[in-house]
Amino acid sequence: MPSVHVNLADRSYDIVIGRQLISSIGDRAAELLNCRRCAVVTDSHVAPLYAEAVLRSLTENGIDPILIKVPAGETSKSMSAVEDVCRQMILAGLDRKAFLIALGGGVIGDLAGFAASIFLRGIPFIQVPTTLLSQVDSSVGGKTGVNTPEGKNLLGTFSQPALVIADVATLHTLPQRVYQEGFAEVIKHAAIRDASMFEAIIDIADGQGSLTELVKRNVEIKARIVEQDEHEITGERALLNFGHTIGHAIEASAGYGELFHGEAIALGMIAAARLSSELAGLPPAAVSQLEDLFKRIDLPTRLPENISTEIILDHMKHDKKFSEGKIRFILLRALGDAFVSHDVSTEHITDAIKGLRF
Ligand code: NAD
Ligand code: GLY
Repeated sequence: MPSVHVNLADRSYDIVIGRQLISSIGDRAAELLNCRRCAVVTDSHVAPLYAEAVLRSLTENGIDPILIKVPAGETSKSMSAVEDVCRQMILAGLDRKAFLIALGGGVIGDLAGFAASIFLRGIPFIQVPTTLLSQVDSSVGGKTGVNTPEGKNLLGTFSQPALVIADVATLHTLPQRVYQEGFAEVIKHAAIRDASMFEAIIDIADGQGSLTELVKRNVEIKARIVEQDEHEITGERALLNFGHTIGHAIEASAGYGELFHGEAIALGMIAAARLSSELAGLPPAAVSQLEDLFKRIDLPTRLPENISTEIILDHMKHDKKFSEGKIRFILLRALGDAFVSHDVSTEHITDAIKGLRF
């Protein structure tokens, strides 16, 4: 079975990728963790699809699970949801010998990972990501967290999972738009680290190629970056923000949910690629290649008219990456070769946002 090892000393773990892995969760958990009780945390969309199979697999392996369901959607990434999950675990009598399974997309991974990291001062957890975004990105690396009214992901921990099980067969039940937006992070990985992945992405869009292999290549890229910068200190993780500075501001300006995260990030990547062409020598043909790929996946390449440049700039000023007025911006020298630049000015960014209308 394809797997990627994340090498982080005593926090190392495997990411197993393939099909029909849901039924092997109990087996793998029993082998890895000497725990007989666990909580399966999932959301209201994922529960009817996969919870029963996960619970069955656990009980068949002598593990006694409780199921905790939260409403689907970003609103479940809240402190009240964390408290609710933890209290259900306390009321069910789970102790420090228990573990947790996060079954769902990035919302569940962040919420349940956070809950596991603080429950009785921390219990092991297994990520079972069920969206493309969570399989290639959010389940790998150990950042967990929830939102507050002041902003996204402001409360959280660095807490590595004990195991990640990415069953690509679960992606077939995703709504089409959610599946497509996941490709934004895949294309981001290709743009910053591995231009040869462009072909594999087109193959998948054409209904060919192996989704397992594509997810594995992405997980490898993310894992190698996390290994070099587990706690976001050395700057290596910053490369993962390619397209995100402008993209996050576009997402917030549209109103959360109007433009999906991946759609906004696609626009942010186009702006960043055009700036890379102007400031870092990225060939114009590479910018066109990137835009064509977004079109192929049905991700947007033009900014919706109702989102003003001023509102986007205003949102950007509140971004933590604009530390002390200095902009840390990820540019590309070539497709697959990203770096952190301090030479991008507000004027450059303003022009790049305006350019997204053409
Ligand atoms: P999500 O978890 O909200 O899932 C999207 C939708 O798909 C939800 O309605 C969900 O119920 C549904 N769903 C999930 N799996 C399904 C399946 N297999 N079949 C049918 N429906 C399914 O969103 P997401 O895009 O997976 O994750 C976004 C979240 O991830 C954000 O909160 C973001 O902040 C977080 N994130 C975290 C990190 C990190 O480093 N921790 C990195 C990137 C993103
Ligand atoms: N949880 C994903 C990350 O640490 O980047």
